[in-house]
Amino acid sequence: MTRVAVIMGGWSSERQVSLSSGKGMAEAARQAGFDVVEIDAKRTLSQQLLEARPDVALNALHGPWGEDGCVQGLLEILAIPYTHSGVLASALAMDKDKTRAIYAQHGIDIAKGGAYDVKDLAREHIMAPPYVIKPIAEGSSFGVFIVREGANRPPKELVDGTWTFGDQALVEEFIPGRELTVGVMGDRPMGVTEIVPLREYYDFAAKYEAGGSRHVIPADLPAKVTEAALAASLKAHQALGCRGVSRSDFRYDDATGRLVILETNTQPGMTPTSLIPEQAAHIGYDYPSLVRWMIEDASCPR
Ligand SMILES: Nc1ncnc2c1ncn2[C@@H]1O[C@H](COP(=O)(O)OP(=O)(O)O)[C@@H](O)[C@H]1O
Ligand SMILES: [Mg+2]
Repeated sequence: MTRVAVIMGGWSSERQVSLSSGKGMAEAARQAGFDVVEIDAKRTLSQQLLEARPDVALNALHGPWGEDGCVQGLLEILAIPYTHSGVLASALAMDKDKTRAIYAQHGIDIAKGGAYDVKDLAREHIMAPPYVIKPIAEGSSFGVFIVREGANRPPKELVDGTWTFGDQALVEEFIPGRELTVGVMGDRPMGVTEIVPLREYYDFAAKYEAGGSRHVIPADLPAKVTEAALAASLKAHQALGCRGVSRSDFRYDDATGRLVILETNTQPGMTPTSLIPEQAAHIGYDYPSLVRWMIEDASCPR
């Protein structure tokens, strides 16, 4: 029987989300007939893996270490086949500034903006509001600020130094309109989901609290927009060199018809009610079949 180590938890700010993804995937892998061992990742992860002796690692981590190439590198050193993207794609996708350069190089539309020193952002508006300030390498909407039209100064958190996401931040023009997300499974875009937030914007609570948002799949869009979103997500997945499942987030401005990519998640949320399991169901994979697909797709490139 194939022995699968589900690596979850860890010590990033997304620990709790990862624990839910991991518990869900471990249960599904058992249902799919695998021998499962759950690992709450510590700094001693290499030891934990050596003791567990898995045939495959199912990566359920989110955020730094688990999503940025570090754990992927460790798994390659230990010669354990693992799910999702490899070292380079993980590291690239974790850096939203570097990712933007790759999107642009491949003709995928991005918001106007770039990386700036936080102290410059705190001094005065770097561009005319509305604009967005976000960490270069975080997830789950942690540290995201929307500077509204008419705001007379940058967010006070930047000015008073309580923004703790590094010396640099990414600034982007605010793209009005709708929030779309598209999963990719191998070489197949899975479907377009519209996320209708029931709050002001798609923040942490709106993403993870029950009733925080409504998911519409397939999104009610003109066929051309759906096709464009599916194509852009596959292009992003391939341009970054992703493997397994990824999920790209977009804004669609229906007033202008503009479709703008925000980011590609190489370790998208996998709780049973997350977006990827919903999209998988839409193309005929129930949750255990999706997890089985991931495990069978695992590889160790070196
Ligand atoms: N340029 C933008 N225009 C409009 N909204 C944005 C923009 N960038 C981010 N947002 C909002 O903030 C949320 C989080 O941003 P995102 O880049 O997806 O980072 P993460 O999900 O990794 O925190 C998005 O889902 C969106 O609602
Ligand atoms: Mg996002």
